[in-house]
This record gives sequence, structure tokens and C-alpha cells, in this order.
Amino acid sequence: MDLKTKIENLLKEVEELKASNDKELEVLRIKYLSKKGVVSELMNEFRTVAPEAKKEIGICINKLKTEALAKINGIREQLLAANVTESAENLDLTRTAYPIPLGTRHPISLVKNEIIDIFSRLGFCLADGPEIEDDWHVFSSMNFPADHPARDMQDTFFIEAHPDIILRTHTSSVQSRVMEKQQPPIRVICPGRVYRNETISARAHCFFHQVEGLYVDEKVSFADLKQVLLLFAQEMFGKDTKIRLRPSYFPFTEPSAEMDISCNICGGTGCSFCKHTGWVEILGCGMVDPAVLDACGIDSSKYMGYAFGLGVERITNLKYQIKDLRMFSENDQRFLEEFIAAN
Ligand code: PHE
Repeated sequence: MDLKTKIENLLKEVEELKASNDKELEVLRIKYLSKKGVVSELMNEFRTVAPEAKKEIGICINKLKTEALAKINGIREQLLAANVTESAENLDLTRTAYPIPLGTRHPISLVKNEIIDIFSRLGFCLADGPEIEDDWHVFSSMNFPADHPARDMQDTFFIEAHPDIILRTHTSSVQSRVMEKQQPPIRVICPGRVYRNETISARAHCFFHQVEGLYVDEKVSFADLKQVLLLFAQEMFGKDTKIRLRPSYFPFTEPSAEMDISCNICGGTGCSFCKHTGWVEILGCGMVDPAVLDACGIDSSKYMGYAFGLGVERITNLKYQIKDLRMFSENDQRFLEEFIAAN
């Protein structure tokens, strides 16, 4: 058989090439295109071809080379498209799937949701407001005198160019947001993040979370407030939990109080968490000052109300005995995964 017929036969052969997986394809590539493959061998033979036939044979060999390459690449693409790769061939379809790692809810969210749940059962609706607030909603409408120390740069984050725009220092700003839009009866809770210009340590942070409560109606008494807070404490920490109200002062409530609960870590006998007092402070509260109602467009001769603001971190610390506030914002997965069971 002369060289030309041999090449023509090879061309027909190449046209018919087939492979059903990567391995078979590689065998074909080696056979035709490798250093010792069919095309290379033809090149060697080409040297012995008579000079007058060189041009014709040269063209034939080149044609074979391009066609073999095109065919093999074509098959490779088909295999890829059909995903019939070597590893796919060894797939064990009876194997169970890899578990997908699930995230966990943050302990602050867990506790916040629990608080929302308890108060919704008591008929409170959710309300919210912006974290970037103006002086009116955070301070002025809340009856803070112009020279009140909380308005000081040391406590409040200001935006330099706009001294009227601040990061809210408490969720009480949502009280005025709700009251300016809605007439009584009002019964809302407002969970949210607040900011204070504090040095970050185990016991203080520049941001933390509060849940504000506000109830305004025609006949609201301090006894109502106390009963709601007692019920909340017992739902949150168990039936034996005791509460204690201590007189306090807030510009927006009169009278005002701070509420302690019996330390649920030591059961009230005294430990380092409750500083050996048996009590832990968890919220501030009081009867809404009539000046606040008036400032927010509610007739204080007709309506009265109570308000409270509780610290979510403090309650979370009590529930899960977390001693360092910084852990809440570090997002260390080892810490967050501790709460898988609570999710
Ligand atoms: N806003 C107060 C604080 O941040 C808490 C509070 C809310 C007190 C509502 C009384 C009534 O400390």
C-alpha cells in the first residue's frame, strides 16, 4: 500500500473515532497524536518520500493531523457536556449526601425572639425606628433638658457635620416615633440596637440591644406595669423568679424605677455575677411623663401610660452565663455553635 492510500484510510478511521469516557479518549490521543503516535510516524516516513511527491503527501499528513485533533477535541467536549468524566463513572449513587453545614441563630437573636414571643402573648405589637436618629426623637421629645449629661459627646455618637443627627442611645426614641403616628390605645414593644460612646470591655460595649415597651391608654397604673414585668420575668427565667423595683430617675418617666430579678445563676444566695447581692438589674421603667405624651401629640389629660426598656445582653448573660460582652460581636464560630441546641 502506498503512503497516500495509507493516509486516506487513516483519515476514514479518524472520522469514525469513538470514546465513551476520558480513559478511552486518552488511548485515542496517544495512538494518533503522541510523540510515537500515527502522525509522528508518518512524519518520519515523510523523509523518505520522493521530492516530487513531497508536496502532495505533506498536505495529506497535515490534513490527518488537524482532523485527528479536531475529532479528539470534539469528543472531549461532548464528554464534558454529558458529564461522563472518569470520576463521574465511579459515582456511587447509593451514597448518602454530604451534610450541609447549617448556621446557628445568634444568642442575642434567640433571647430577643423569646422576649418578643412573651410580650406578643400579652397583646404587644412590634414597632421599630431608625438607628440613625435625630435629637428630637432620642432626647427632646423624651423630656431631656438641654443640658442633660446623656446629650454629652461622651455618651452619644454624633455626626460631626450634623450635630442634630446621632446614633440612638436607647430604643425610647421609638416611643416618640410610635406616638406621633398613632393615638391610644398603644401597646408596642420595640427591639433594636443602640449605641453609646463607651470604652469596649468585658462589661461595656459601644453598641448593645434593648427591647422597649410602651403602653398608653385611658387607665394605666403602676400596678399594671409591675404585673406585666413580673409575668415576663417568670416566663423568661422560671416560676420561682422574684422581682424587685427600686426607685430611680429617667427624664421620660415619673415615677421611675429599675427592676432587678433574683439572680438565677446562684438562685439568690449570692455569686460573682450578682456581685453577691442575689439580685441582677435587667431594666428601667416607669409611668410615661405627661410632658412626653404632650410632646408627641397625645392628650395627657386624657391618657396615661407606662414604659420599660430592657437590656437584651444582660438577660442573655443571665440565661447563658456569658461573662464577656465582647463575645457577642466577635462572631467566633466556636462560641456561636454552642447555641445549636437552642436554635
Ligand atoms: N431608655 C432607658 C435606658 O436606656 C430605659 C427606660 C426605658 C427606662 C423606658 C424607663 C422607661 O436606660
